[in-house]
Amino acid sequence: MTFDAHAIAKDFPILDRTIRDGKRLVYLDSGATSQKPNVVINAESDFYRFHNAAVHRGAHQLAEEATDAYEGAREIVAQFLNASVDEIVFTKNATESLNLISYAMGNAAPGNRFHLKAGDSIVVTEMEHHANLIPWQQLAARTGAILKWFTVTDDGRLDLSQINSVIDEKTKVVALTHQSNVLGTINPLEAITKRAHEVGAVVVLDACQSVPHMKTDVKKLDIDFLAFSGHKAVGPTGIGVFWGRAELLAELPPFLTGGSMIENVTMESATWAPAPKKFEAGVPNMAQAVGLGAALTYLTGIGMDNIHKHEISLTKYLLEGLSAITDLRIIGPKTTELRGGVVSFTLGDIHPHDLGQYLDSQGIAVRTGHHCAWPLTRKLGVPATTRASVYLYNTTDDLDALIVGVQGAQKYFGR
Ligand code: ALA
Repeated sequence: MTFDAHAIAKDFPILDRTIRDGKRLVYLDSGATSQKPNVVINAESDFYRFHNAAVHRGAHQLAEEATDAYEGAREIVAQFLNASVDEIVFTKNATESLNLISYAMGNAAPGNRFHLKAGDSIVVTEMEHHANLIPWQQLAARTGAILKWFTVTDDGRLDLSQINSVIDEKTKVVALTHQSNVLGTINPLEAITKRAHEVGAVVVLDACQSVPHMKTDVKKLDIDFLAFSGHKAVGPTGIGVFWGRAELLAELPPFLTGGSMIENVTMESATWAPAPKKFEAGVPNMAQAVGLGAALTYLTGIGMDNIHKHEISLTKYLLEGLSAITDLRIIGPKTTELRGGVVSFTLGDIHPHDLGQYLDSQGIAVRTGHHCAWPLTRKLGVPATTRASVYLYNTTDDLDALIVGVQGAQKYFGR
């Protein structure tokens, strides 16, 4: 199949609308959330129109249909990640997935492999989104474990030169992002997973910015847990995924407790259902899971390798175009090597919020600010940046519009 981003864009109704007095919408904020194709919108609304019932509970036809649709979505996610179906836990988003594992580890009793005690260490990186930093800070505070981290070099890569002392025999968990939501950097996982497993630590991957954009095979990555959000992968909001190796999920205590996640309950105590149910207390986000299934089927139909290739070519085009602008500084790797389609930059002394507002007046949607990665932007000495992020429906026309927009802002602000 030939990849045609213009044709793909037609599947996304919102990309047809105009904004700010009739301007074409140039959507370059997919790193924050992606737009949704008709197949996803229809799958979610069809669930409510025709099949809505509480899954795993009712004795009637609607309950059976809803359960089949919900469990069918789990199978689609499993295939998408090359995982087993019982290893897929639905959450509300990646933030919840990361809180699930960190709280569950905090619930582990002595003797459980996830139990943390004073002196143990948790390793993160300086380029984490707050969602993969604060839950670990909190776990460290609750257990007395020490939080350690890999620092970031000036060119936006992880400094792994001290890997053997950062990850040592005391390390129980290494949690890191696959692709930085600020820098676009794709982290080299092999050395990290090898060292973590050497010392018996588990590796938790925040794959929010990678799963929607490249083929992800959890077995090949040799990780232990993974989190991503449906809404960044052309799916609905309110649905996330937590994947874990079956043998690890079996030992991990639950996070939320209540209905559906139990095996047996008395007035005094309860025992847990096997995973994934153990981690899905309450009536889940059913329509959203079904929508996510439709989203991943849609992406698979186009081909994750095709999407990745398209984004690499857009990123190259954008890096070259932006680099030619006076006073523009790209924050992060300047080539497409081990890098995805998230490009952050500063523009002389024009504040990113002013630039963002100017671009918006031209119909161009970007994100500005610290991008929920405050320690990173502080380390790089840029409290705020402007960030453009691309996806399968973007074209070089969108990037030309951004480049012209940035030059227009320089004139507008008299630079
Ligand atoms: N985590 C999302 C972003 O980076 C919201 O924009």
